[in-house]
Amino acid sequence: MALEVRPLGEMAGAEIIGLDFSASLDDETVATVNRAFLDHHVVCIRDQQIDLDRYLAVAACFGAPHAQKIPKFAHPDTNMVSILSREMNRETDDPNSKPLARGTFWHTDHSYHREPSKATMLHAIQIPSNGGDTRFLNMHAVYEAMPDDMKKRVDPLRGVHRLTARRQFTGVRRRTDDEVDGPHAVHPLIRTHDETGRKSLYMNPNRMDGIDGWSDADSDALLEELQEHAFQTRFEYRHRWQPHDVLIWDNRCLMHAAMDDYTETRRMHRILLTGREPY
Ligand code: SIN
Repeated sequence: MALEVRPLGEMAGAEIIGLDFSASLDDETVATVNRAFLDHHVVCIRDQQIDLDRYLAVAACFGAPHAQKIPKFAHPDTNMVSILSREMNRETDDPNSKPLARGTFWHTDHSYHREPSKATMLHAIQIPSNGGDTRFLNMHAVYEAMPDDMKKRVDPLRGVHRLTARRQFTGVRRRTDDEVDGPHAVHPLIRTHDETGRKSLYMNPNRMDGIDGWSDADSDALLEELQEHAFQTRFEYRHRWQPHDVLIWDNRCLMHAAMDDYTETRRMHRILLTGREPY
């Protein structure tokens, strides 16, 4: 059956109709999904009832999955998949302490590594009947809408990204000894997509110490200005989940944030695909 790529939003998002991940994927199918991924930045394949092994095999068609770095979030059967669920992320080690949703402030995955994840895949195992959407910001559009003087000022600058960053906007959970002073990396603020050549603003508000070589005060002033420009709904696509959706999104040109507005269980299986150093 021929695949149909149906756009979901103006800024990002497309649903691929006619795709069944339980069957093997031929080169043409993989190429179609990849093309839609580059054009729309977020692709959604509905109603995929596949097990972990098949999910990993599908992921390997689109990139190289890498291991979950924070052991407590890893799936008990494989550390190549992590579980996103409030119940897995409590305020303290006490199992009765408050469950915390992860990823609720704008971010991009693993920017504090030299080679940040190219893409993230989520498989919706259980979703609440209301709420729990994931929001995306198209950072190409953010860059393209920047005034020329802002582009000129930002063009030569590099951001310092750190897992345990000075600037954090979400509730900071207690970190393990391994995570304290964890990985950090310095990346250009204007990033060129390695497959499409398009530029985007590359920042990770929740994981940045500041601008390389700048004081905290000067860094904060610029980062606040960039955030004010970026955090506009006109750049946003908001994904409303359906059970067993598989979503693949491009971390090289998007930020994302999970809504924490639901009461029932929300459980996602996440796979990250290896990227290369931004330039
Ligand atoms: C994430 O931040 O990687 C996950 C987003 C979500 O749970 O919707």
